[in-house]
Amino acid sequence: MKMDVLLGLQWGDEGKGKIVDVLAPEYEIVARFQGGPNAGHTLEFDGIKHVLHQIPSGIFRSQILNIIGNGVVLDPIVLKREIDGLGKFSIDYMKNLVISKKATIIIPTHKLLDAALEQSKGDKKIGSTLKGIGPTYQDKIGRTALRVGDILSPDFKEKYEALVAKHKTTLSFYSHPLDELPGMEEQFFAAVEFFKTLNLIDSEYVVNDALDSKKRILAEGAQGSLLDVDFGSYPFVTSSSTMAAGACTGLGVAPSKIGEVFGIFKAYCTRVGSGPFPTELFDKDGEDMRKEGNEFGSTTGRPRRCGWLDLPALRYSIMINGVTQLFMMKGDVLNIFKEIKVCTHYVLPSGEKIDKLSFEITEQDVSPVYKTMKGWNCSLENIHSYENFPAELKEYVEYLEAELNVPIKLVSVGPDRTQTIMR
Ligand code: GDP
Ligand code: IMO
Ligand code: MG
Repeated sequence: MKMDVLLGLQWGDEGKGKIVDVLAPEYEIVARFQGGPNAGHTLEFDGIKHVLHQIPSGIFRSQILNIIGNGVVLDPIVLKREIDGLGKFSIDYMKNLVISKKATIIIPTHKLLDAALEQSKGDKKIGSTLKGIGPTYQDKIGRTALRVGDILSPDFKEKYEALVAKHKTTLSFYSHPLDELPGMEEQFFAAVEFFKTLNLIDSEYVVNDALDSKKRILAEGAQGSLLDVDFGSYPFVTSSSTMAAGACTGLGVAPSKIGEVFGIFKAYCTRVGSGPFPTELFDKDGEDMRKEGNEFGSTTGRPRRCGWLDLPALRYSIMINGVTQLFMMKGDVLNIFKEIKVCTHYVLPSGEKIDKLSFEITEQDVSPVYKTMKGWNCSLENIHSYENFPAELKEYVEYLEAELNVPIKLVSVGPDRTQTIMR
């Protein structure tokens, strides 16, 4: 049996949480492999809206085992809050949630460092969610981090103090205040005590044993390919490998065991935080998109930047991930437009037309070339099958499919579980 991977092809917030929840009944395991509390994955069903940050989006399905893999950076405080929040849904997290002992822990000073580093960048700031992601992955790669398994060791406190002492040197270099630290530490150690009671395991064995016994696993990506630390618009990226390959290292699964790669994209684009966004709209269309799509961050509440779909960027994401099926999200948001644009190329200041995301291109030097298509400009509310889609929406889907050379197998037309059209 092979593991399927579901990931975002843009700058995050494509609707991954919704689709993992929709697909979960076809799987036995859902596993997160990278990122941490910077993610905000929204699920809507039975009139309830829920945002998950670190817990996989299979948690609302009682038969699913949810795994937080080794590639994740985990904040115990956020995890405790998330589990407390699930209390009213009578979820048996002792049965349905396991956490890799090799996942990395976000400690309070990682969050202070995130703030200090962002502040020091001035107008070059990344627009981080300030959840401590960058500094924690820095410690992981620098081989100084604390891991989940460490909390069970008798000398955890000493290891913690040693790391904090190092962080304080950097914080003092940036003259960053430490007033909040004692309160944060109190919360942290209370959360660590709770954390110790959870199912902490070597999840690579669970995942591979499951595949050997023909169980189906869905790996749930966080962020998006254009925020990948290698292939995103560096340095305006997150600090993990957000692509399909990240699911291998983030769970301990061999590349030969990857099955389908589901690539999720919005029918348009959004980005939260700084960095290049060639099709960004600064006009009324952009404002209307934001309002209609309720484009405000699930984690930080920040307004998301909005713009038309970008084919060169999408093609790039499909290429680096080996996407086998595409899922188009938020089709309903474009109901409001009489005309819809799709970026097919970029033009450089020299006049050269390109369709590649080269090392050299930056925000300043590309302008998008658009193809304009007729909008459907009507509600999709009572439409439950692809056959009944308005002709212009079918044209949009089929045009993209032909351009991208990968089948679009699912179109989402609203936030609820039920507003999902399979093809
Ligand atoms: P994720 O990070 O990829 O899981 O996405 P987010 O949850 O951050 O953002 C997606 C937002 O769009 C959430 O508020 C979802 O409830 C909502 N959403 C998902 N699919 C659709 C859709 O097809 N139409 C509309 N209008 N909203 C959707
Ligand atoms: P989900 O999983 C959208 C963005 C931040 C910032 C950059 C770096 O919900 O799609 P970080 O906190 O990682 O240091 O921020 O990445 N970012 C996201 N944008 N969705 C996300 O996750 C994001 N996680 C991080 O806004 O620009
Ligand atoms: Mg999100």
